[in-house]
Amino acid sequence: MKATLMIGANSAIAIAASRRLIAQGQRVISISRCPPPLTDLHHYNCDYSDESIMDCCLKISKLGITLNRIFHFNGMLHQGNHGPEKQLSQCQRDWFNQCMSINAFQPLMWLQQLQPLCHPAHACVFYALSARLASISDNQLGGWYSYRASKAALNMLMKTAAIEVARRQPKLGIVLWHPGTTDSPLSRPFQTNVAKDKLFTPAFSASQLLKLAETSLQQLTQGEWPTGQAQFIDWQGEPISW
Ligand SMILES: NC(=O)c1ccc[n+]([C@@H]2O[C@H](COP(=O)([O-])OP(=O)(O)OC[C@H]3O[C@@H](n4cnc5c(N)ncnc54)[C@H](OP(=O)(O)O)[C@@H]3O)[C@@H](O)[C@H]2O)c1
Repeated sequence: MKATLMIGANSAIAIAASRRLIAQGQRVISISRCPPPLTDLHHYNCDYSDESIMDCCLKISKLGITLNRIFHFNGMLHQGNHGPEKQLSQCQRDWFNQCMSINAFQPLMWLQQLQPLCHPAHACVFYALSARLASISDNQLGGWYSYRASKAALNMLMKTAAIEVARRQPKLGIVLWHPGTTDSPLSRPFQTNVAKDKLFTPAFSASQLLKLAETSLQQLTQGEWPTGQAQFIDWQGEPISW
């Protein structure tokens, strides 16, 4: 039986995507620090320590399912008194390290632990939620040091892993995905200057995500995926420059 894995399942986009998949009768496994956001999810609590990630993956491996879609939603932009730095003088080591750990290393740890669970002959996509501002070549605005750097690090880690993964799991496709500005707790403090028609609902972002994941799965199945290459794309599926 095939299943979708939602890591960071309490994200607004994740909830909308899970709702859609469950309505289609698909099997969804969810991972979160919090209780399951919906009924009908096969849920595991995780504190995102290495041990907890390994424990979740061990439990998933015993379910006897084939993962064909893995979505990694977790991301941190602000927490408590901390938020994105507007100026160099606001940068602090602890906050930077926290952003790096959650936004960059954690998804890599999930990929490390999940890779052996992906059957070499079965197509599977791993979508990690990135952000357009992680583009190094397109950084026109500056600011948001820790978030920007950690998402850029995420991109580099996934691009690097894609090269290695292709040797053993040629049908595991890795995508860094920018959802567009979406109404969620993460973006809420920064929505003031966003035009109404540029602020997506979680339901819209989720439908784009699922559509694009379907296209990725087809490309992998039909051997159209460029070997060893991660993709960095936006909500429309348009490539973003690295
Ligand atoms: N919304 C936007 O405009 C926008 C734009 C570009 C990129 N993104 C990216 O899209 C992803 C999903 O964001 P969203 O908009 O759906 O935000 P959201 O509803 O606020 O969800 C936050 C996500 O981050 C996880 N998270 C929060 N704090 C965490 C912590 N301390 N440790 C580990 N995980 C933590 C949550 O996981 P739990 O389920 O465990 O709570 C949840 O998956 C993020 O990676 C974000 O960077 C969003």
